[in-house]
Amino acid sequence: MGDVIVVGAGLIGLSIAFELAQRGAAVRVYDRAEPARAASWAGAGMLAPYTERITDEPLLALCAASLREYPDFVARIRDASGIDAHLRLDGVLYAAFDAAEMNALRRQAEALQARGVGCEPLDRSAVLTAEPWLGASLTGGLLKRDEGQVDNRRLGRALAAACDASGVRIEQNFSLEVECDARRVLGVRSDRGFNGARAVVNACGAWAAQLHGVPRSCVPPIEPIKGQMIALSVPSGFVRRATWVPGAYLVPRDDGRLLIGATVESSGFDERVTAEGVHALLHSALDAAPALGSFTMTESWSGLRPGTPDGRPILGPSELDGFFLATGHYRNGILLAPATARLIADAIERDESSALESFSIARFHTEDRAAQRITHA
Ligand code: GLY
Repeated sequence: MGDVIVVGAGLIGLSIAFELAQRGAAVRVYDRAEPARAASWAGAGMLAPYTERITDEPLLALCAASLREYPDFVARIRDASGIDAHLRLDGVLYAAFDAAEMNALRRQAEALQARGVGCEPLDRSAVLTAEPWLGASLTGGLLKRDEGQVDNRRLGRALAAACDASGVRIEQNFSLEVECDARRVLGVRSDRGFNGARAVVNACGAWAAQLHGVPRSCVPPIEPIKGQMIALSVPSGFVRRATWVPGAYLVPRDDGRLLIGATVESSGFDERVTAEGVHALLHSALDAAPALGSFTMTESWSGLRPGTPDGRPILGPSELDGFFLATGHYRNGILLAPATARLIADAIERDESSALESFSIARFHTEDRAAQRITHA
């Protein structure tokens, strides 16, 4: 298959590198930082396309396919690395606190059941039996049985080790630029010199528009969207499964941390954790569950999601032969890692990218890019 270079060692870049290496390619991954940092480290690892209420059909279909691939994906990485990523597909609960929200959840349940998605509206007492920590003002909830979570920090370590075991070279660089001629990509030039490649993949997440050396038509319109998060230390089993409440989601980890996320902020590359951000998260969480108020807040952090003008990722080949994009996953990068890896590897290995048409960067070329506004739900 020839040499492939992946720029960006987040979960998306590492998943692509691992998939390609398993298919026999010689792969190098470059990143300015250690592998699996940035949004890959900062996320909560929720695998919840239905709870996210994605209405864009091609994106929902891609997310649903990736969710189905997760058990096999994690098993392959565990086999190669010896590290288990703690995948839990035991459902995600959406808790409602008024009748209007509960009615909306019932309508969503009908629509999801019609598509064959396993979900179950729960009355107040059923929700409180499942999650007794939720507050007295609860109305009911909706359990999506097929959704769940993965420990994204463990998955990052596992993927880096799986890549290493599969012969992928992961290199840290300080400056890097793609080199190409008028028609095709040639490789990359970093502070360590030039490396030729048959294919180069831009998997730089929120920084994907800053990968230089390619024609303007190959630069993805990415905007960083900050998410701030906090963690509380809670007794093991206090919160049983990932739960959404108005304004926040709460994700229990096996080590006793309860992750609470996340803000959605358009503030450039500002990665500061702010008093306002932490206040908003605590306000939402404690409104829904006053019982959480007595626990210790142990951590706060933030990450930058790669947002796109239409909310879809940008995946597949570009106008420059051999130059591929795998970015713009916005709120669903961890969920979309398996399907992205498979489809990008298909595009590189077999020149097969028809499944990626809806996600092509070409969709932005018909409009005046200067006039595009980034909008988010
Ligand atoms: N996937 C949830 C978030 O981006 O906050």
